[in-house]
Amino acid sequence: MMLADTAGAVPAFQLEAWAGVRLIAVERALERWITTETSQGAGHAAPAALVEAMRYAVLDGGKRLRPLLVMAAHEAVAVDAGAGSEAALRAACAVELIHAYSLVHDDMPCMDNDVLRRGKPTVHVRFGEADALLAGDALQALAFELLTPQDDSVECLTQARLCGLLARAAGSSGMAGGQAIDLASVGHRLNESELREMHQLKTGALLQGSVLMGAYCGKAAADVLGALEAYGAAIGLAFQVVDDILDVTADSTTLGKTAGKDADNDKPTYVSLMGLERSKAYAQELLAQAQQALSRSGLANTRALAALADMVVNRAN
Ligand code: IPE
Ligand code: IPE
Ligand code: MG
Ligand code: MG
Ligand code: MG
Repeated sequence: MMLADTAGAVPAFQLEAWAGVRLIAVERALERWITTETSQGAGHAAPAALVEAMRYAVLDGGKRLRPLLVMAAHEAVAVDAGAGSEAALRAACAVELIHAYSLVHDDMPCMDNDVLRRGKPTVHVRFGEADALLAGDALQALAFELLTPQDDSVECLTQARLCGLLARAAGSSGMAGGQAIDLASVGHRLNESELREMHQLKTGALLQGSVLMGAYCGKAAADVLGALEAYGAAIGLAFQVVDDILDVTADSTTLGKTAGKDADNDKPTYVSLMGLERSKAYAQELLAQAQQALSRSGLANTRALAALADMVVNRAN
């Protein structure tokens, strides 16, 4: 009896092992693509100082959650695992470049005025404000360069769809819009639906966009896309709820960024709105919603997506 149970048991999914292999590919690609050489080969070389700031912002740090979501969504839907993998790798890196740019600008004195990021001095502290601004701008442009390779490695329709998904997630009705609401809300008390809207835009949109980009690379069917959209919405919001919680409960060394900044900057957060315990319960509720969406998708291979959702909510940094 014991033997039969053991033989029939599905082995536990090892997120670290799964992610480790994918992260090597992502790190190599980022290292290769953020250079002074132009991707066309014939244009002008980029100024070395600007590229140094870009590399500082992106390389050697960060959890790389968004690239992992792209890859997990791609693998969950792809019938043939190899198909669309060049597009998925490019999408994974592109979304991380947008994220890194958003952090560089988020830390600047005109926004959150932070001096520590990913355990290092922030880009404007190290390189000055003008170069930080330009490094962010250039990272954003580079993201779209990655999605539009000049060779035939990604088909044109896929290029266009990925650009559209990323632009919407990053723009005025996505991350940048959410950041605008965040800045306008300093010192104000938002109600729950206003706060949810702000978090969905400033953070949720890019996480959901990562899932959708990966799913698109794997040519997901419409009903599957709907379920993954709901999964992305739940983890996207949960991510920022947990970010608000960790700002209060974790220390700066663990976070690699200054803890306690939200209260110092008088930001409306889930913790300020509903307190620590209810915020934690809400994050768990969102995790359950994400897992339900995965069940609804009917996909056979959602273990990486499920483990990433768990990591989003139960992480320490
Ligand atoms: C921090 O994002 C900014 C938010 C959107 C809350 P991450 O916690 O994913 O930062 P890194 O990439 O791991 O540094
Ligand atoms: C930032 O939110 C979201 C972004 C779009 C960068 P936060 O301002 O809370 O992120 P941290 O706490 O500085 O990483
Ligand atoms: Mg901010
Ligand atoms: Mg900030
Ligand atoms: Mg925060």
